[in-house]
This record gives sequence, C-alpha cells and structure tokens, in this order.
Amino acid sequence: MIETINLTKKYGDFTALDNLNLAINQGDCFGFIGPNGAGKTTTIKILATLLKPSSGQAMIDGLTVGYQNRQIRPIIGYVPDFMGAYTDMVVVEYLEFFAACYSIHGKKRKQVVQDVLDLTDLNYKATAEVNSLSRGMQQRLSVARVLLHDPKVLLMDEPASGLDPRARVEMRELLKELKRMGKTIVISSHILPELAEMCNTVGIIERGQLLFSGGVAEAVKRAKMGQVVQVAVTGRHQQAAELLSKLPGVTRVQINEGQGPQMGGVTLPLIQVNFDGMAPGSSGTGPAANGAARQDLSDIPNILINNGFRLAQFTEEAVNLETAFMRLTKGLVQ
Ligand SMILES: Nc1ncnc2c1ncn2[C@@H]1O[C@H](COP(=O)(O)OP(=O)(O)OP(=O)(O)O)[C@@H](O)[C@H]1O
Ligand SMILES: [Mg+2]
Repeated sequence: MIETINLTKKYGDFTALDNLNLAINQGDCFGFIGPNGAGKTTTIKILATLLKPSSGQAMIDGLTVGYQNRQIRPIIGYVPDFMGAYTDMVVVEYLEFFAACYSIHGKKRKQVVQDVLDLTDLNYKATAEVNSLSRGMQQRLSVARVLLHDPKVLLMDEPASGLDPRARVEMRELLKELKRMGKTIVISSHILPELAEMCNTVGIIERGQLLFSGGVAEAVKRAKMGQVVQVAVTGRHQQAAELLSKLPGVTRVQINEGQGPQMGGVTLPLIQVNFDGMAPGSSGTGPAANGAARQDLSDIPNILINNGFRLAQFTEEAVNLETAFMRLTKGLVQ
C-alpha cells in the first residue's frame, strides 16, 4: 500500500532522509520510531504530499507522490503533530467546515460528522469551542477531521505526544478501532511500548537512515543481542559457572560475590551470564534467524537442576521494545 524507494530528502546540504526503503502492506499498522530529528516528520510529510523528495520515490496505492498528488490526497488522512488553525469555532462547525472542504454536502455531511463524533467519543463536546478542548480532545478532533472523507491510509505524526496516560489509552483504543476498520496506519512516536501493542510492524530510523524494518517480535528478537541472565545456586558456584560458560552463545560468565539472594543468613553469589546473539525460545520466537544454535534461555534452570544444582534465583533481563529501540539506535545491532 505504501512503498518508498531510496527516498532522500535534503535541506540544503543537510541530508534529513537518506535512501529510505519502506514497504507497508494494506491493513498494516506501521510504527515509525526514532529519536528527535530522526526524519519521521519529514517522511510523513512527503507521504502526505506536502514535501517533495530530493530523490527517490514514494508511492501510495500505486500512485507516485509528487506526480499524482491529486489522486493521492482523497485516499490519505494526515494528522500533523500540532492542531493548526481554525480553532475559534465550535467542534461541530469545525468538522462541518472540513467536510465541506472535502465536498461532502447536505444530509450526508450531517451523518458523516455525527459518525466521526461517535467514533472519536467527542459527541458530548459537539457544541464546545475547539479552543476550550483539552489537548487530548484536540488530538482526537484532529483524528476526527481526517476521518471525514474515509481515507484508506492514515498518516499520524505523534498523535499521542503530550497526552496524559488516560488520554493516551483513549487514543490507543481509537487507533485500534481504526485498525479493525481495515485502515492502513503509519504512526510515529517515541512512546515505544504503546506502539508494540497496536502495531504489527515497526521501522526504526535514526539520523535519516532506517536501522530496522520488520515485525515487532523480530525487532525485540534482534535486540536480544547481548542479553544478560542472572543465576544463583545454593552451592558449588564455581562448577555452576563452568557449566554455564559451556552453553552455546555464552560470551562471559562472572561470579559476583554477595549480590545474590539471602539463604540461611548467607548472601549467595550471583552468577551473571552474558549471551552473544539471539536467544530463541525465551520469548517463544522460534529459531534464531541466522540458524546458529544458541541456548534457549528458558532451559537454563532445567540444565542446572539436571546437573544437581539447587536454583535460588533465575532472572532474565526484560526485553521490550524500549530496550530494542535503545540497542538498535545505539548501533549495537545491525
Ligand atoms: N525545513 C527544514 N529546514 C532545514 N532542516 C530541517 C527542516 N525540517 C527538518 N529539518 C531537519 O531534518 C531533520 C529531521 O527532522 P524531522 O522533523 O523529520 O525529525 P523527527 O524525526 O520528526 O523529529 P521529532 O521527533 O523531533 O519530531 C532534523 O535534523 C531537522 O533539523
Ligand atoms: Mg517530528
């Protein structure tokens, strides 16, 4: 549905987007993740036909941005990162105004405005001034506005930024509903755990370059590079460390005295096991992508028990999209 081929944007000498290749399928919810200045807004504005690429191509539904903008505009809805103008009207006037801009008239307009008010839970604010709405409500109104013409593709630039936790949850629910309606959604954000729940694919961008593009699970899997497991056993610590050091994928085993759990008034040593590469199985993600045999982390307790050790602690470093993002943007992976 959306494809970019070597998409590049320069502002003067500065390269804001560097040969970006994206492929987003119909019905995907694509999370576009990157730190400040990464190029998210630039990419979304190009897709929204508001900026011209310096080189490369962007296509939406087979139409080329920059050449077929008139055909593209009716099928996209762009939610910018700020509310914009026309805020001195009441909500229903505001929506009627934009519906008129999309040539929706008469009875149909009343119905469409009502439908988007229902969908975005703004009915009770229909006669309130746009200026008087909270930030969360204004964000929802921005979404309502782009739904008037029922676009297939939604381009949303940080719709959840600046929202309190409750408003974020409401925005997330709204996005899930839009996904269920079959819309193709591109959403940018710094708030990664939120994207993990509703996006099926993610792209991680830094300084104009795409570091990763693929499934959410795959992003997390990649980030498992260098994962750490902490183990404590009740005795024969040195032997346990030796056993662990022989497991496939282990790069380092270190015994940290006095850092483990308390047992019978004694503080046990904590054995830190560092893994190089992916650890399949620990999140149920299947075999490592490169085919190399690596220890399944969830089997470690059993391996120790089967070798006569008594386990006092087993902790796996929690990996979420936040961690994946940090690792990927630090250039630790790829
Ligand atoms: N009009 C412009 N002129 C010159 N440089 C620009 C312009 N717009 C953006 N840039 C630069 O391009 C880079 C990418 O900016 P962009 O706004 O796309 O980043 P972003 O990922 O959306 O960041 P943020 O998370 O802060 O919104 C930045 O270094 C920015 O300073
Ligand atoms: Mg931005």
